[in-house]
Amino acid sequence: MERLIIFDTTLRDGEQAPGASLNQKEKLEIAYALKELGVDVIEAGFPIASKGEVESVKEIAKSIKGPIICGLARAVKTDIDAAYEAVRHAKYPRIHVFLATSKIHLQYKLKKAEDEILRLAGEWVSYAKRLCSDIEFSPEDASRTEREFLFKVIETAIDAGANTINIPDTVGYAEPDEFGDLIKAIRENVSNIDKVVISVHCHNDLGLAVANSLSAIKNGARQVECTINGIGERAGNASLEEIVMAIKTRKDIFKDIETQIKTNQIYKLSRLVSKLTGFVVAPNKAIVGNNAFRHESGIHQDGILKERSTYEIIKPEDVGFVGSGIVLGKHSGRHALNHRLKELGFNLTEEQLERVSIRFKDLADKKKSIFDDDLISIVEDEITPIKPLWRLVSFKVTSGTEITPNAEVILRYKNKTLSGKSSGDGPIDACYKAIDKITGIRCELQDYRIEAVTKGKDALGEVSVKLKAKEKVVTSHGSSTDIIEASVRAYLNALNKIEGL
Ligand code: KIV
Ligand code: ZN
Repeated sequence: MERLIIFDTTLRDGEQAPGASLNQKEKLEIAYALKELGVDVIEAGFPIASKGEVESVKEIAKSIKGPIICGLARAVKTDIDAAYEAVRHAKYPRIHVFLATSKIHLQYKLKKAEDEILRLAGEWVSYAKRLCSDIEFSPEDASRTEREFLFKVIETAIDAGANTINIPDTVGYAEPDEFGDLIKAIRENVSNIDKVVISVHCHNDLGLAVANSLSAIKNGARQVECTINGIGERAGNASLEEIVMAIKTRKDIFKDIETQIKTNQIYKLSRLVSKLTGFVVAPNKAIVGNNAFRHESGIHQDGILKERSTYEIIKPEDVGFVGSGIVLGKHSGRHALNHRLKELGFNLTEEQLERVSIRFKDLADKKKSIFDDDLISIVEDEITPIKPLWRLVSFKVTSGTEITPNAEVILRYKNKTLSGKSSGDGPIDACYKAIDKITGIRCELQDYRIEAVTKGKDALGEVSVKLKAKEKVVTSHGSSTDIIEASVRAYLNALNKIEGL
């Protein structure tokens, strides 16, 4: 069996997705979950980008033991130094140096000739190698680079000490046969290629990122760069869960390839990334979408009841998918609740369990059947690492077609109880304005979304908000059977996050 190295770049390329900013605590939480998932490499960030980015990568390098921790750098001294400074505390640090090689990038972006690029690749890879023994080199826009020149650049980077050569399809332009052929050509034409691992990094502009990655694997690539839920620049990167499950499900094709991914953690991680970035997963998304394992038509349901494999190529439990069965109700005790939470992969402290129990009882009074998804939503609300400075005591709203919506909100702040009243465009707007009056913090609501967690009139509503205040932007969530309460909780969670940064 040959090992396929899973290089996760959710925290670097994934976080470059427009609107997906994560703070240090959130990045650490994701990095920890990635380690649990079993990824081999975590690209933790692009340290030169900002002071905050250096700190996040450093924190991950110090705390996450197991995977290689990688920092990205352009082929310039300042970037490489910043990347090394950030990853050097890791047990297994890696510096990833990239330099554009396509004619279009050379002419318009770098304004450099090919000879100069060859010189820079050699110079900066060997500089990085003097700092760190594990170096990855990427000829950016490789799939649009003239092959002969690409071979020369790769050869130079290997001679200078690169251990991994990553072939990026930077703009998602490649097509699977063509991309597979490029990997084959690199293996056949670069004289020293046997010294390194060939990696691929595919973008999804034509919806081909996963297909291109799989084609590259068939042609000898042994590292794939990917992200959870396929998030990333523009249309995103190749999705980790799709690549891993394709390899696992089509063992007949990928006979000798295996990954170390604990696939039953996939769904949990997908939810976490979606929650922290605010990027909703499309219901029909392969592997992790809410409909990925739901069978609606009578013929399919009949087939599934007779034999699951008639219409199911992956068992939902293989990716840790939950959410369909009724699990608990009003009469379920704390023991049953804790038992189910453990089955879902949550090991709560006594204090967290106490808070979740209270919310669970409260929900059970309002809702007959509680589903796994309801439970996960409550848990995610309650086990947030944010210290709740502002807590909701109660609120009252009046609203209707003939009257101006009004709200009165009561909050707890340290040991004080504070209240505020306001009118608004609607009951939620009135609540938010009342909260702003109490806190005195100027907030800008940049995004608001609501989703029903499960089916039915009594479904739990999950609100996610993107809030800007004190020069910081955060995404946060709240859930309740009452959508106004869910909205208030989401807003307060966001405020608490901002206060805690
Ligand atoms: O898409 C790309 O080319 C990249 C490189 C930095 C590897 O993200
Ligand atoms: Zn990329």
